[in-house]
Amino acid sequence: MWIDVLTLFPEVFESYLATSIVGRAVAEGRVTIRCTNFRDFAKDKHRSVDDRPFGGGPGMVLMCGPVFDALESVEAQRKEKPQRILLTPQGARLTQRVVAELAQEPALLLVCGHYEGFDERIRIRINAREISVGDYVLSGGEPAAMVLVDAVVRLLPGALGDEASADNDSFADGVLEYPQYTRPREFRGMRVPEVLLSGNHAEIAAWREEQARQRTAQRRPDLLGPS
Ligand code: ADE
Repeated sequence: MWIDVLTLFPEVFESYLATSIVGRAVAEGRVTIRCTNFRDFAKDKHRSVDDRPFGGGPGMVLMCGPVFDALESVEAQRKEKPQRILLTPQGARLTQRVVAELAQEPALLLVCGHYEGFDERIRIRINAREISVGDYVLSGGEPAAMVLVDAVVRLLPGALGDEASADNDSFADGVLEYPQYTRPREFRGMRVPEVLLSGNHAEIAAWREEQARQRTAQRRPDLLGPS
């Protein structure tokens, strides 16, 4: 998979993209991630990418020119037409289902906003899937882009090493994950549930399924649908 990220702050991605599961997927060539600074496409000598909003009001608004020039330049260098994604608190909520859909794409192009927002003509013309990572406002789309990249990359074939592990994730089948334990068997008086030590795989699977169901009912009944 190819992932292009258009951002004013490419440097904030560097350590994240080189670390842990995403870093390994990059090193193994499962995904190629490239960040492009749309300030490099600014036209004036101050390298401006934003301006005051017409009609007045606080803050600055990202201008069309640098965003479109960066987008067109990046896409011209790619064979596949990417799924364009605009990170914005006004987008559809990112869920595991959306992540799984995006993981099927050969190429993604993420556009991170900053300042008060985008010129509306960017939104209109780029025809992107608009995605929000939650009902709160970030200072920019960069943390949201990292969330999306992480969630997508871990679903790419081979990215987790153990293919089974993504299947047991919370949300993978609509419920939260069951509780996990490792050594020691007892820690400060808290014992690992006996069934996990039993070696009886059917009983363990049934226990995990029931724990996942109970947890979901307690914490996220909305995931179980109307009862
Ligand atoms: N940019 C600012 N806030 C955001 C959010 N909640 N999701 C995605 N992009 C954003």
